[in-house]
Amino acid sequence: MEVVILAAGQGKRMRSVLPKVLQLLAGRPLLAHVLASARMLGARRICVVHGHGGEAVRSRLDAPGLVWVEQNPQLGTGHAVLQAVPHLSADARVLVLFGDVPLIGASTLARLRDAAGQDRLALLTVEIDDPTGYGRILRDGAGRVTRIVEEKDATPGECRVHEINTGILVAPAARLRDWLQRIGNDNAQGEYYLTDIVGLAASDGVEIVTVAPDDVSETLGVNSKAQLAALERIFQASVARGLLDAGVTLVDPARLDVRGELVCGRDVRIDVNCVFEGRVELGDGVIVGANCVLRDVRIGSGTRVAPFSHLDGTVTGEACVLGPFARTRPGTVLANGVHIGNFVEIKNSVIDDDSRANHLSYIGDADIGVRVNIGAGTITCNYDGADKYRTEIGDDAFIGSDTQLVAPVRVGRGATLGAGTTLTRDAPPDQLTVSRARQQSHAGWVRPTKKGG
Ligand code: UD1
Ligand code: CA
Repeated sequence: MEVVILAAGQGKRMRSVLPKVLQLLAGRPLLAHVLASARMLGARRICVVHGHGGEAVRSRLDAPGLVWVEQNPQLGTGHAVLQAVPHLSADARVLVLFGDVPLIGASTLARLRDAAGQDRLALLTVEIDDPTGYGRILRDGAGRVTRIVEEKDATPGECRVHEINTGILVAPAARLRDWLQRIGNDNAQGEYYLTDIVGLAASDGVEIVTVAPDDVSETLGVNSKAQLAALERIFQASVARGLLDAGVTLVDPARLDVRGELVCGRDVRIDVNCVFEGRVELGDGVIVGANCVLRDVRIGSGTRVAPFSHLDGTVTGEACVLGPFARTRPGTVLANGVHIGNFVEIKNSVIDDDSRANHLSYIGDADIGVRVNIGAGTITCNYDGADKYRTEIGDDAFIGSDTQLVAPVRVGRGATLGAGTTLTRDAPPDQLTVSRARQQSHAGWVRPTKKGG
């Protein structure tokens, strides 16, 4: 099968400089969702008909097997498909999709394809309570489809039909080409309607079959930000249902956003208002507290992420505790039993088993051994304004509070750094290293008082 995706519309009602099909649903462009469904069917070739902003769309989503066809000017859906026809094999079956109907599912499309067989015209249609704005499916006394009428061209009687055209169809390529060359634009909108091929198919004696989608939401289009927001919630609700079915505890399925892939082990518990981006893996028994954002992370079994943590490009081992208010950035690798507390930022650092940084620290470009204790307010000074340098801290080291480690610098195994130390040279193992002015007390000193007044 070959696929044509119509994506030339400007989407003025989105009021955005971004082409409509690049607007994000669950973190991915609308068109990416449609392409994913088309690919799941094993489509041989996919033609995307673009217009406004075509280059931006192409550079964002180009991939092998995609053919980009420009439609300029835009003279209607029939004219749009006609632009793709020269790129289609004459013996192919052609599936027409809309770039702004993102929830269309592969299983619905597979049924439509199977209903079409080799030589039928298959239409995806649906009965809806309020058919306003859609093309209506017209049938004869025997129930056979005779044509589609657009609402603007419909008689009041035709407007009362509740079976509507979703726009999605499958047709044999050679027939499609012939019909598209025969349609005109003598209608209320002066456009070449794709829907007019249905009347031609009927009069040519081609069998026309209709298929209903698995779920009506699959056929919803995005024309406005309000519709985009509504589809986002439908999408997220279905993700949440999938997680619940897989045994994940979601404290409130309506307050979860997955913008990528979330893979969970057994007995995972996710509190409210968490956002998952990219690929996130949560091991068995992981707990994610309220209001966390996790992007491209792998969390080991039994680890607890406390509320308001922001984890990015991070891997953790088992039984770690992060947050509340932890921030980990790309390149963070935590082994087992590591504790990262509140207002601790970690970047591009490896922290080994059972080490702790419980309060208010910045750890960047560091390699930290096992059982290291990092005191409150510790900072790795990893950047001299031009280059970044690493800090190494050996096993069992104790870093006193308010310490600055001016990299490149090494702290030996078992070393202790006194609070307030600014470490500019390596600290030897097993010794106390302190750098700070000696404390003095002045007996008999008198506090100044305000003069005059
Ligand atoms: C179309 C159908 C209508 C159906 C409805 C479902 C026709 C004539 N009408 O109407 O029966 O009920 O969709 O939503 O097909 N596009 C192009 N080039 C063009 C015109 C449109 O690429 O010249 C693309 C748009 O970007 C959009 C899709 O085709 O993705 C549908 O176009 P739109 O103008 O929204 O069609 P409707 O009038 O809603
Ligand atoms: Ca539309």
